[in-house]
Amino acid sequence: MAPNRWTPERFDDIADFWADRLVMESAALDIYGQLASGSLSAEEVAERLGLDAPAVHLFLDALTALELLNKRGHRYSNSEAAGRYLVPGSPDYMGHRLIAAQHNWEIWGHLFDALRTGQRQREKHIFLEDPEAARHLLLALHRDARSRAADILVRGAIDLSERRQMLDLGGGAGTYAVAFCRFHRQLHATLVDRPIAAAVARDVVASAGLEDRITVLEYDVDEHELPSNYDFIWISNVIHARSYNANRALFERLYHRLVPGGEVVIHDMIMDDTRTRPTRGAVFSVYMLLSSGAGRCYTFQEIFDWLDGAGFHDVRWVREPDEDMTLVIGTR
Ligand SMILES: C[S@@+](CC[C@H](N)C(=O)[O-])C[C@H]1O[C@@H](n2cnc3c(N)ncnc32)[C@H](O)[C@@H]1O
Repeated sequence: MAPNRWTPERFDDIADFWADRLVMESAALDIYGQLASGSLSAEEVAERLGLDAPAVHLFLDALTALELLNKRGHRYSNSEAAGRYLVPGSPDYMGHRLIAAQHNWEIWGHLFDALRTGQRQREKHIFLEDPEAARHLLLALHRDARSRAADILVRGAIDLSERRQMLDLGGGAGTYAVAFCRFHRQLHATLVDRPIAAAVARDVVASAGLEDRITVLEYDVDEHELPSNYDFIWISNVIHARSYNANRALFERLYHRLVPGGEVVIHDMIMDDTRTRPTRGAVFSVYMLLSSGAGRCYTFQEIFDWLDGAGFHDVRWVREPDEDMTLVIGTR
């Protein structure tokens, strides 16, 4: 997150969100996919997308001003940057991130209602009822997490060299299971998640060619008994969407899914005792109020209490300076 240096320019940047909104909408409409095979006029774009031609004219001119499009005569084509970042299928595609942000736009508009009522402002549960939004969010997370997973391994933040059976709980797109299994050839993983995420994970695991070592199971961990005999349980970006009590109960159950000597590793935005650092975590907690209603980013002390209460020992916080995402490890 940008450092908290407050200047008039920073306030101007915050107020000046119109261009951000144009770019999100252009990704959601897939303007750049439409233009990938050649230039089009505003009328042609409007007809393809079922939009109003004079309005689209203004929209495409603004995107040209932002240098995402080029304009020659009455025809528009993708700029180099748009071709690289905004055409679906490009290796550097950023559209999932922008479309996920676009899906969140609506609920941030209800911040006042959330503050007044304390209630979540998302009508549909994203991972249970909104496959399209969930898919964009999971693929956006996947893009970010690939370098993060490599970083965790290279830094030696966790030692998986002796581990054989991993449970990736709420594994999402499968980024971490894939990265850890690629790096450690002796490791097998079971990824459990709900059906929408499990479908995304199956694609990611298949394109990594790891179907023989990673099993993807459709499970709601609050409703089903989990398989056992794991020596490593990985829980990334899951606890922040759950209530304090739901997390405490989860770790009590997970303790019994591990073999003695096995480790549970929580990867999340873990807060200090003031609950204001890292900055991203404090801001994210408000997003959780809007989005889940039950969750927030938890402090190390809170996570320590769940793990210690469940019977884990040697509970420790592994963190790097300036890292928003950190690890808590506990041993059975
Ligand atoms: C924000 S995503 C994180 C995905 C991945 N672990 C990562 O760090 O990129 C949270 C995932 O947890 C899953 N999840 C949350 N609650 C769950 C539950 N009760 N049972 C199974 N999966 C759950 C969601 O479906 C979603 O895929």
